[in-house]
Amino acid sequence: MKGFWREDQRRILVSAVLLSGLVTAPVVTMGDDARGRNADEARLANLVVQDCGSCHGLTLRGGLGPPLRPEDLGELPVEAIAAIIREGVPDTAMPPWKPLLSPEEIHWISQQLKSGALVSP
Ligand code: HEC
Repeated sequence: MKGFWREDQRRILVSAVLLSGLVTAPVVTMGDDARGRNADEARLANLVVQDCGSCHGLTLRGGLGPPLRPEDLGELPVEAIAAIIREGVPDTAMPPWKPLLSPEEIHWISQQLKSGALVSP
């Protein structure tokens, strides 16, 4: 009996932790479990459209922040885009994303922006 109870508590705790992770930082829980890379990429792509899109426009064509289409990013190399996303732009609304996104995630997003893969038609 005691053993069952403990297992239940553990499950509730794990769900609570996962749930709060999902609510506050959707991508922090990804990567180190059995989920496929594609699900991770879908989640990241969704984050770019929703979170980045809240400033840069849901179609990434600009809003409060500048548009993020390949033609707008011009000569910025992927690494420079990644640095902007990582550190933000001081004294502007562009926040640093390093508390929320891993270097790999930021690199992936930068590549997608550079290739235009996330821009809606
Ligand atoms: C709260 C609003 C806001 C959010 C959210 C936001 N940005 Fe920005 N972003 C800005 C603003 C404002 C600038 C322009 C800063 C400047 O004046 O140089 C900017 C600039 C940029 C630039 C540089 C563009 C250029 O041509 O120099 C990139 C790249 C960028 N953001 C990517 C992102 C990504 C990726 C996300 C999501 C992970 C994101 N931003 C989320 C407001 C935001």
